[in-house]
Amino acid sequence: METIDWKNLGFGYIKTDWNIRSTHRNGAWSPLTATQDENLTLHMASTCLHYGQEAFEGLKAFRGADGKTRIFRLEENAKRMIRTAEYTMMAPPTVELFRDACIEAVRRNERFIPPYGTGASLYIRPLLIGTGAQVGVKPAAEYMFVVFVTPVGPYYKEGFRPISIMVDRHHDRSAPLGTGFVKVGGNYAASLTSADIAHKAGYPGVLYLDAREKKYIDESGAANFFAIRDGAYITPKSPSILPSITNMSLRDLAADFGLRVEQREVEFAELPTFEEAGSCGTAAVISPIGNIYDPDENRTYIFGDGTTPGPVSTRLYETLRAIQLGEAPDPRGWNTVL
Ligand SMILES: Cc1ncc(COP(=O)(O)O)c(C=O)c1O
Repeated sequence: METIDWKNLGFGYIKTDWNIRSTHRNGAWSPLTATQDENLTLHMASTCLHYGQEAFEGLKAFRGADGKTRIFRLEENAKRMIRTAEYTMMAPPTVELFRDACIEAVRRNERFIPPYGTGASLYIRPLLIGTGAQVGVKPAAEYMFVVFVTPVGPYYKEGFRPISIMVDRHHDRSAPLGTGFVKVGGNYAASLTSADIAHKAGYPGVLYLDAREKKYIDESGAANFFAIRDGAYITPKSPSILPSITNMSLRDLAADFGLRVEQREVEFAELPTFEEAGSCGTAAVISPIGNIYDPDENRTYIFGDGTTPGPVSTRLYETLRAIQLGEAPDPRGWNTVL
C-alpha cells in the first residue's frame, strides 16, 4: 500500500478504493452498490450535461482523539441536497440513502482516513445528476447518486492565519431569486471568473455583494461571511447565499459563548465597524479575514491588526474543531460516530 504524506496533502482528488452508487428509475432508488470504477458512463443527452441538473455536497469525516471516526453534520448535508434536488426538479435521495451511502463510502475507504493529529480529514463528495436523455428543457426521468471520498490536507499548513480578500461588484455568482441558496454546479461555474480576477490580483478570496443593489454583503467565495462587533456574531441573511452548515453550527456556539446572534442584512458600509471578520465553511471551518480590498474605491478595510486572528474567531474555530475531533463533548449530536 502506498504511503500518504498526510501533513502535506492538499485539496485535490486522490483515488480511493471504492465509491457508492444508486440509480433512480421508475420512481425508486436502487439498493446501494459499491464500485471501484472511477468513471461514469453517461448518455450524451443526459440533462446534467446540458441543463445543469446537478447537485453536490461536501462534508468531512475525522479520525478522533479516541481513534473513532466522526462524520460532521451528515443529516444537515442530506437535507441540503434534498432541497437542491427539489428546486432543480431532480429525484431527491432520502436522508437514509444519503446517510448510508456516506457511511459506506467512509467505511470501505478506511485506510484513507487521515490519522488524528495530522490536521487532515476525509472529504466526502455526494453527487446527484440527471442521467436520463432529454433534448427539450425538462427534468430527466432517471438520476444517479454517487458518493466518493478523498483525503484532504490540513487547511492551515502554516497555522490559523487571516487571509486577504477582494470585493467584486462586477460579477455575481447568483441572483436573489435564483439558485444561490442551493448547491448546484452552475453557481460554481459562475464564480470562476471573479475568483480568477481576485487570484491574479493576489487575493485568495472574493467578497460578493448583493446582486440587486451592491449594498449588502452576500458571501465570501465558497463560504459564508460573519463579523464580530460589540458582543454580537453578525452574519448575512440573503436569498442568494448558500446556507452554510458550518455557519449554522457557529451561530449555536456563539450563542453558547453569550454572544448575540444577528442573522440579518449586513450593509457593506458596516465593514469599518467590525472588530473581526471571517469566512466559514467545511473546507477551513473559519478563515479569519485580515483585510478586504475594494478596488472600486481603492480602499482596504483592516480587521484587528490584519495579521492576527481575533479572539472570538479563534475560540469559535477551536471549539468547533474540538467537537469534530472528539476532543470536546458534542451536546447537540452533530457527529455521526462510526
Ligand atoms: C457557496 C458556498 N457558500 C458557503 C459554503 C459553506 O457551507 P458549509 O459550511 O455547509 O460547507 C459553501 C461550501 O459548501 C459554498 O460552496
